Amino acid sequence: MTRDSDAGVEPGQVSRRKMLSWAGLASLAAVAGGFAYKHFSSTSAVKVESFMTSGSGKPRNILVLTGSGRKHGNSDRLAEAFIKGAREAGHAVNVFHTGREPMSACLHCEGCWSNGKPCIIEDSFNTLFPLLEQAELLVFCSPLYWYNFSGHIKCAMDRMYPYSKKDRLRDMNVRETMLLMCGQSHFLRSFAGPAEAYRQMLGYKRWKDRGRLFVTGVDEYGEIAGDRALRIAEDMGRNV
Ligand SMILES: Cc1cc2nc3c(=O)[nH]c(=O)nc-3n(C[C@H](O)[C@H](O)[C@H](O)COP(=O)(O)O)c2cc1C
Repeated sequence: MTRDSDAGVEPGQVSRRKMLSWAGLASLAAVAGGFAYKHFSSTSAVKVESFMTSGSGKPRNILVLTGSGRKHGNSDRLAEAFIKGAREAGHAVNVFHTGREPMSACLHCEGCWSNGKPCIIEDSFNTLFPLLEQAELLVFCSPLYWYNFSGHIKCAMDRMYPYSKKDRLRDMNVRETMLLMCGQSHFLRSFAGPAEAYRQMLGYKRWKDRGRLFVTGVDEYGEIAGDRALRIAEDMGRNV
């Protein structure tokens, strides 16, 4: 007995009805596959690499230097998450936004300390240097710009030059540092340049590395929202 739609089908031939149902199944599979691809391909771009070393657990005076001109952008959000965790754990946290209070690069004029201040250039470094002299833990939080630190935060780093002079009048109080970065690249190796510069800086200044966090695949404004990277940054702050 054959059903109507199979009527007239020779043995070995595929009925029209079966062909239609296979086509339907294939379309469903294609749509499901499309959703799956979109989901996994859009989330797999965000990779997070992080570690931190254990601290003494004592309350710290922390200074966070952010490096983006985008207020509340991706790296700002990393910084905010870190700060939230650190404050909840009882640490005193100051933040200085190098991208919002731009400062000159170091001019290597050797005028350091000549007027009693670390630098003779009159700009926002006047606000930053007292914070640097106070902070025990310094956190660099920068977007990746041209496989490097942003220019904003790099200028702030360069302006720490007076504290490396033999005849300095005062020093920074910094003993420990952390590095938080994010970028559009899908590859963690894109952070290799600033990671190595940071490593060398620690050796030179005898700072102790307390941790690093690199986040790939975030580019649009606020794209990092909801990502586990923020939870990790918050935990880093809480456990610092
Ligand atoms: C001038 C400039 C250079 C950039 N260079 C890179 C780069 O080399 N590699 C990368 O992955 N992303 C690069 N980006 C993208 C930013 O790192 C990315 O958008 C990041 O999420 C911005 O963070 P923000 O929202 O905190 O500014 C660059 C962005 C700008 C504006």
